[in-house]
Amino acid sequence: MTIREYIKLRKEEIKDLVNKMARPPFLVIVQINEDAGSIAYVNGKLKDAEELGIRAQLIKLPVDVSEADVMQVISGLNQDEDVDGFIVQMPLPVQIDEQKVKLAIAPYKDVDGFHPLSKLSPCTPKGIMNYLHHENVQILGKNAVVIGRSNIVGKPMAKLLLKESANVTVLHSKTSLEDKKFYISHADIIVVAIGKSGYLDHAFTYKPDAIIMDVGITRDENGLHGDAVPNLPVKFQSPVPGGVGLLTRLTLFENLLEIVGEKYGI
Ligand code: GUN
Repeated sequence: MTIREYIKLRKEEIKDLVNKMARPPFLVIVQINEDAGSIAYVNGKLKDAEELGIRAQLIKLPVDVSEADVMQVISGLNQDEDVDGFIVQMPLPVQIDEQKVKLAIAPYKDVDGFHPLSKLSPCTPKGIMNYLHHENVQILGKNAVVIGRSNIVGKPMAKLLLKESANVTVLHSKTSLEDKKFYISHADIIVVAIGKSGYLDHAFTYKPDAIIMDVGITRDENGLHGDAVPNLPVKFQSPVPGGVGLLTRLTLFENLLEIVGEKYGI
């Protein structure tokens, strides 16, 4: 099933669940940047919320806001009983400490699953795993290569793949090209998340049965591009746009429903 078909199916299931609730779940999104990727993601999330019957509110803070003021907003959201869950959109401006923000969000409201005590996993890696499961992709004993070691994708992705007994290798900016070529040529599952348009190209060799999940999304004058060039000689490659971004957005609402379900015992 394509990612778009899978999203449609899951959205129908979520809509049905929300319809049965006494009150719609309430999600708040805090945005403190003018980053083009974030704006696209936030607009997409607000659109999804409306479609799913979920209440959503965007709180936009000025990019020069102080860390103390951000902490106050987070503390207010933690205490507001009306708010079921919230996220603070990354990246953050330089004056705001990312780790402090992640730790300030109450774990029981942390839709992103960023807090170390959160039971939820970050949306992009979890969305990818859920899709792979839905497509019956075998993970146990398979060679999984994660390219990029960011806190919100690469590291949690590697952790989830390892939890399901894949042989996980994380490649990054300090890996030699020779080693990258070696690991990529042996990979069954490749997750690329480095934000470099067309990085995975025909100069690498791939297993014909490999699966590539492309997290990258870069905009230039010709449109949006993934970290992989289209039509690589593999079994499946997620498109950009219309691929992993949609899975991330979906998982945000799945996480919100998990929070609400736990809160009301449903
Ligand atoms: N920026 C890019 N992806 C994400 C995400 O999953 N959560 C948050 N909070 N910010 C992001």
